[in-house]
Amino acid sequence: MVVVTGGSRGIGAAICESLAAKGYGVISLSRTKPALSDILHLGCDLTDVNDRRAKFKQLAERDDIFGLVNNAGIATPNLIEDFDNEIYKKVMDLNATAVAELTAAVVPVLIKNKQGRVVNISSELILGFATRTAYSASKAAVSSFARTWALELGKYNICCNAIAPGPVETELFLQNNPPGSKVRKKKLEKIPLKRFGRPSDVAGMVAFLMSDEATFITGQTLYVCGGSSLGSVPV
Ligand SMILES: NC(=O)c1ccc[n+]([C@@H]2O[C@H](COP(=O)([O-])OP(=O)(O)OC[C@H]3O[C@@H](n4cnc5c(N)ncnc54)[C@H](OP(=O)(O)O)[C@@H]3O)[C@@H](O)[C@H]2O)c1
Repeated sequence: MVVVTGGSRGIGAAICESLAAKGYGVISLSRTKPALSDILHLGCDLTDVNDRRAKFKQLAERDDIFGLVNNAGIATPNLIEDFDNEIYKKVMDLNATAVAELTAAVVPVLIKNKQGRVVNISSELILGFATRTAYSASKAAVSSFARTWALELGKYNICCNAIAPGPVETELFLQNNPPGSKVRKKKLEKIPLKRFGRPSDVAGMVAFLMSDEATFITGQTLYVCGGSSLGSVPV
């Protein structure tokens, strides 16, 4: 069984679909039910601490979890001079703190089974991007989590990695990069492959990291970005 947060749409839905097609049982932890009927849905508002802890406890009671994909995330762009403590806390809480809490809940099952995979969905914006103080920091945190967890959990045959997508056309991306906007045009110009990413591009990397081909890869942040991160310093 693989647990995917935010499997109801965008990248998360593509991840669920691709894993289900490969024969994995998949549970989506999201507020909305995924469209695909063979995905199990555990309704959860990850910003509600009591709700999420109750759902994480339920997952911790299962003995069949092999993988965890920490995918759910939000971005709330603003300049540093417009810093808003409430927004900052919300982004950090959902994108980073909830990731650590869920992983902590599920890891004892993986340790008991002496195998497992954790994949954190980070972002190429960890390299820095104007208006993303909280978002970029939260994504840098989940890349860093993967490195620490790889060190702690390698002895249990558990691989932990992060994926840093470039621009992928989803609802979240459209909200922050509307058609016709300058920022959208600039992002496209930066991509050597001359197209935005598709949710399936990221889902393919997740499926690879879950597979037997990826048993010797751990602690890495893998960029799935059409080359748009090139020329920057990798973290
Ligand atoms: N799109 C990009 O260009 C891009 C690039 C780099 C990284 N990423 C990262 O990739 C991940 C997925 O992004 P996306 O573009 O697919 O976003 P999206 O289309 O907005 O989907 C976000 C998913 O997260 C879930 N979610 C959001 N808030 C939640 C909450 N409070 N409780 C439970 N689930 C919640 C949503 O489910 P419900 O609404 O049903 O709860 C939804 O399934 C994010 O972590 C994002 O930062 C995206």
